[in-house]
Amino acid sequence: MNAISVRSLAKTFVRGFLRRKTVALRGIDLDVPEGVVFGFLGPNGAGKTTTIKILMGLLFPTAGSARIYGVPAGTRAAKAQVGYLPERPYFYEYLTARELLDLVGRLYGLDRSERSRRTERLLERVGMTHAADRPLRSYSKGMLQRVGLAQALLPETPLLVLDEPASGLDPIGRKDVRDIVLEEKRKGKTIFFSTHILADASTMCDRVAIIAGGRIRGVGSLDEMLERRIDRIDVVFSIPEEARPALADALPSAVRRTPEGDVASFSDHDAVQAFLRAVLAAGGEVHEVVPHRQTLEEIFVEKTASRAPAATEGGS
Ligand SMILES: Nc1ncnc2c1ncn2[C@@H]1O[C@H](COP(=O)(O)OP(=O)(O)O)[C@@H](O)[C@H]1O
Ligand SMILES: [Mg+2]
Repeated sequence: MNAISVRSLAKTFVRGFLRRKTVALRGIDLDVPEGVVFGFLGPNGAGKTTTIKILMGLLFPTAGSARIYGVPAGTRAAKAQVGYLPERPYFYEYLTARELLDLVGRLYGLDRSERSRRTERLLERVGMTHAADRPLRSYSKGMLQRVGLAQALLPETPLLVLDEPASGLDPIGRKDVRDIVLEEKRKGKTIFFSTHILADASTMCDRVAIIAGGRIRGVGSLDEMLERRIDRIDVVFSIPEEARPALADALPSAVRRTPEGDVASFSDHDAVQAFLRAVLAAGGEVHEVVPHRQTLEEIFVEKTASRAPAATEGGS
């Protein structure tokens, strides 16, 4: 069974006296299988938080459906399955971290000894034991994010939904988040998290979906996403000016001039072989042959740039 299943989900926000409309989601489909770390990637304003809030029952969709383990999102039965880290964890700021975790445990119906056991373990796990009895209002953004993660883990639900878990964290904090996510996955949990930081996605995810302008632009395993792409091969070379015309036939297209030498790019191996022979035969030199695999970053830019609709209709 899918941990999350979303069908034709649409959301239009209507604001103010002029009833201006912002289309946040334009009918998205999404399946998150059990036991995977699923990255929900997209630039700011893509619709990630809107989707997540609908999954948590904090917003109602304009159309379509969202289910958690087959149960409609927002119902008690659905919520009981999910630990949630909001994008901006605006906690009750007069509570201490220890009190907040205890409160969350109570909301999930845990008894006192269980709450206390899990609270202490998680404070330790996110490195917040030293500040556990200070009110949250004295916390930095990174500290709040850590406590936010701890409260998402506390109920030990099979599904974790994390909205930008690495936001506000320094590189060490980001590594901690990654370690925690992978540890939860080893315990068999399903983790669905949004991010606009691609480095996080490529080190944590089994599957990703790319969203932009309220539409899904691509879904697949990270390997598929990266492998589907034809490798590009760059040949860095130099050749005497007068010998250049001899290369014309073997050249793919324009040659880029760089400080390292001229660079010709190819997408197929035979063409590279032919070109290398031609360069040498013409008295040139080959400095480097660089295979180039498309990065997640490039796929992301390509997918989010194409067909991007304006998000706002009926005024701005
Ligand atoms: N409460 C709201 N009222 C009006 N527009 C909103 C509201 N929440 C989000 N939006 C708009 O919906 C779009 C998607 O936002 P969001 O889901 O927060 O994107 P992301 O989390 O991917 O950055 C944006 O254009 C945003 O301005
Ligand atoms: Mg967001």
